[in-house]
Formats: sequence, C-alpha cells, structure tokens
Amino acid sequence: MSEEPKIAGLSPMKIALEAGKKYAFCTCGHSEAQPFCDGRHKGSSFSPNVFIVENSEDVWMCLCKQSQTGHKCDGSHKPLREANPQ
Ligand code: FES
Repeated sequence: MSEEPKIAGLSPMKIALEAGKKYAFCTCGHSEAQPFCDGRHKGSSFSPNVFIVENSEDVWMCLCKQSQTGHKCDGSHKPLREANPQ
C-alpha cells in the first residue's frame, strides 16, 4: 500500500453526524465504507481519525484525503478535479 493516501473521491460526501456518537474517518482512502474506516489501512502508516461531535450536524466529509481540516472538506478536491476531468 502506498504511503500517499488514495483519492477515494473528487467530491465531498454529505453525512448527517449524530451528537455523542464516535466516528472513525478513513485517512488512507482505501476503505470501501467511505468516508469511514473499514480497517483496510492495516499494514500501512495510516490510522483512522476518531472523533465525536458535540452537536448533530450535516457535514461535507472529505473523500480526496487532502483536506487540512481533518474529516471536513476544505475544498482541496477542487484542483484535483480540475486536473482529472471526468
Ligand atoms: S481504512 Fe482508511 S484509515 Fe482505516
């Protein structure tokens, strides 16, 4: 497995997160349960970003795995999408 994260998608995914629930965000990009970890990072230097939200909210979660704001989309997918038109 490459030590660069795999681009799981070129658009963020809107997810309804529930207050008090623990989530494990996939940082390697190999999970088939995007945007969440399914354990496929094992054997790599990646580990999931585990977090709990205080308030229930809809969040645009990162799939390109380039966001500098953790699991939340920061727009980093935009230049990738422009470089990889579909
Ligand atoms: S499967 Fe990607 S971090 Fe766990």
